[in-house]
Amino acid sequence: MTSFWSIWVIVLTLSCLFILFGLLVWNLKNYAGVPEGESCGHVYDGIEELNNPLPKWWTYMFFATFIWSVYYLAAYPGLGNWEGLGKWTSSNQGITSLAESKEAVELAKEEGRFVKLDAEYRVADARFGPIFNELAQIPVVKLVESKFEGDAAQQVALENGEKHAETQGQLAIEIGQRLFAQNCSQCHGSDARGGTGFPNLTDNDWLYGGTPDKIKETLLYGRIAAMPPWGAALGEQGVKEMTAHVLSLSGRTVNQKDAAAGEAKWAMCAACHGADGKGSVAHNLPFGAPNLTDNVWLYGGSQRAVEETLNHGRAGVMPAWKDILGEDKIHLLTAYVYSLSQAK
Ligand code: HEC
Ligand code: HEC
Repeated sequence: MTSFWSIWVIVLTLSCLFILFGLLVWNLKNYAGVPEGESCGHVYDGIEELNNPLPKWWTYMFFATFIWSVYYLAAYPGLGNWEGLGKWTSSNQGITSLAESKEAVELAKEEGRFVKLDAEYRVADARFGPIFNELAQIPVVKLVESKFEGDAAQQVALENGEKHAETQGQLAIEIGQRLFAQNCSQCHGSDARGGTGFPNLTDNDWLYGGTPDKIKETLLYGRIAAMPPWGAALGEQGVKEMTAHVLSLSGRTVNQKDAAAGEAKWAMCAACHGADGKGSVAHNLPFGAPNLTDNVWLYGGSQRAVEETLNHGRAGVMPAWKDILGEDKIHLLTAYVYSLSQAK
């Protein structure tokens, strides 16, 4: 806010208060010229106007709001550019990176500022941190086993009308699911089934591997896919041929001549997708290149979509979560993600 608008806001706010205060004080005096409680001499439809004073309880309450407003305007930000004696802020604003956010949190602590958002995180960490930490000591596979056992026991208990005590696995994966809804669903969908460019995490078809270790690695450090563009190297006809070959890998009917011409150049692709096109995971490679033989598509399996992929390349980015969520929460998220493809 420029200082003009700051002063504008301050003058408007304070004069409003001042006028209201004046009005209240003015109304405390008896100007009617008749004693309190007696008729002012006006009668409307048989209703008489008495000279009654303002109710005491109401007047005291009005004064109390003035005292409160003086305290509030002094202590909290809001009056123009005034930042308030308490240096309270709702969040560390204007932050564009994690590093800046961490710096801002430290600075706020040092300067004794009260930042509401930081405080809420601290309270939540103190309360839930120990629970997360305890669950994070249990291996992912155990948690998932315990979750499915718990679900089965719960089913039986329900049928018998009995109560069922939640297992640790059920609790861990419920927490994982909430964390997923908060942090991951905007890209992978609330049911984790993904969308164009965002992998489905429930189908046991993996870019980087679906073991607990691999999933955790993905979550901790993120992944950056690098499918290079081939438009220049292959040319228009080459892209058409390679597309035919790619589509034939998953059993689609294609122009045989084109597909054969594409297959002849497969060496360009084999380094990442494997000689058989089954993808990086099948060959224990780190590139995240999808299996092209299974008719599961990250960017779509139409001829147009595949041509687009080949012409311009693809570079999906999965963010790194280690510094944002910490290892305990990531452990629970790993258990949740792992459980999705293990459900029978
Ligand atoms: C900004 C969007 C975005 C967010 C948020 C995001 N992801 Fe991802 N994630 C991706 C993309 C894109 C990929 C695929 C990367 C690639 O193309 O190779 C991916 C890949 C993955 C994979 C690897 C899948 C495989 O087949 O190997 C897992 C597991 C995963 N994400 C889990 C999560 C979890 C858990 C969270 C929340 C903590 C999360 N993601 C948040 C975009 C996102
Ligand atoms: C350097 C490794 C690398 C090479 C070489 C490579 N790819 Fe890829 N490819 C990838 C990666 C990684 C992805 C996933 C991109 C993403 O997740 O954003 C991918 C994705 C694709 C897809 C999209 C699949 C889908 O599910 O939507 C197709 C099709 C494809 N590649 C075909 C090819 C063909 C054909 C060649 C050879 C001309 C080739 N790739 C060469 C790494 C490679």
